Amino acid sequence: MELPGRPRRNRKSAAIRGLTRQTRLSVEQLIYPLFVHEDAGDHALESMPGVTRWSPEGLLREAERARKLGIGAVVLFPKVPEARKSPDGAEALNPDGLVPRCVRALKQALPELCVITDVALDPYNSDGHDGLWRDGRVLNDDTVAVLCEQALVHARAGADIVAPSDMMDGRVGEIRAALESADFDDVGILSYTAKYASAFYGPFRGALDSAPRAGDKKTYQMDPANGREALREAALDEAEGADMLMVKPAGPYLDVIAAVRAATTLPVAAYQVSGEYLMLKAASQSGWLDERAVVLESLTAIARAGADMILTYYAPQAARWLGE
Ligand code: PBG
Repeated sequence: MELPGRPRRNRKSAAIRGLTRQTRLSVEQLIYPLFVHEDAGDHALESMPGVTRWSPEGLLREAERARKLGIGAVVLFPKVPEARKSPDGAEALNPDGLVPRCVRALKQALPELCVITDVALDPYNSDGHDGLWRDGRVLNDDTVAVLCEQALVHARAGADIVAPSDMMDGRVGEIRAALESADFDDVGILSYTAKYASAFYGPFRGALDSAPRAGDKKTYQMDPANGREALREAALDEAEGADMLMVKPAGPYLDVIAAVRAATTLPVAAYQVSGEYLMLKAASQSGWLDERAVVLESLTAIARAGADMILTYYAPQAARWLGE
């Protein structure tokens, strides 16, 4: 048969497939999200099998284990005791709070580990919103002022990168200015640029007891139906001084990752969120899917779409699989 081309020639052997492979997943691309609480013991999360909420000591051990696997970066998410939550989320600004303490301990024990912190008020706020909640709505500019202080608390503790996940307008520029004026010009901003109001965050909120007590997050997180709007967010974040842009969730939003990738010269991150983790984990535990194969395929697809780095709860397992 005469054909204009035979693409199968490039798939003929493992060696040729290796030569022609476009996307190569590497452990260096992975960011490991870690849950932490103030209690002494570590707590295996029932809502996220295989994921643990760590004590400060457990966190250090886990970070060390991750380092040995070649993982270069972690991002911290705290569970704040109910008694320390308040309408103004004041605990977010406590210099001796859980996150600053953990950042200091991590940077001391593992100076080469990149420590990223989440900037938003939902774990600290008795209303469970990422911003200040007044009369049934989330205030934008008043929230941004608090987020700047929160970012400074993290920077003073030694955070390498702050990651605002709140989706308030203008927060990247204000946080950048606050960091500059406090001489933290080397602290980066990984902006949650296109963060969707997604049902895939359910297990995460269960892990931290951080679900909104009233209302939902649709007035600040993006409508899952919108793609173009992600480019508007990306342009604003870039103009405001973000160092990296994030799309979240990842798997169901590959088109958004690809569009943001094409629209910016900044590095792009994607967050394979708790619900995505849980889908892969549940199907694997039932014996319905081959865990290693689907996890590596899903991460490869996220990278192929344009993500330079991927936040995933599978980071340690993926690191091990990639090293084999
Ligand atoms: C909150 C925050 C959320 C996640 C990361 N930061 C939840 C939310 O916005 O309600 C979700 C991560 C996940 O589901 O894995 N600022």
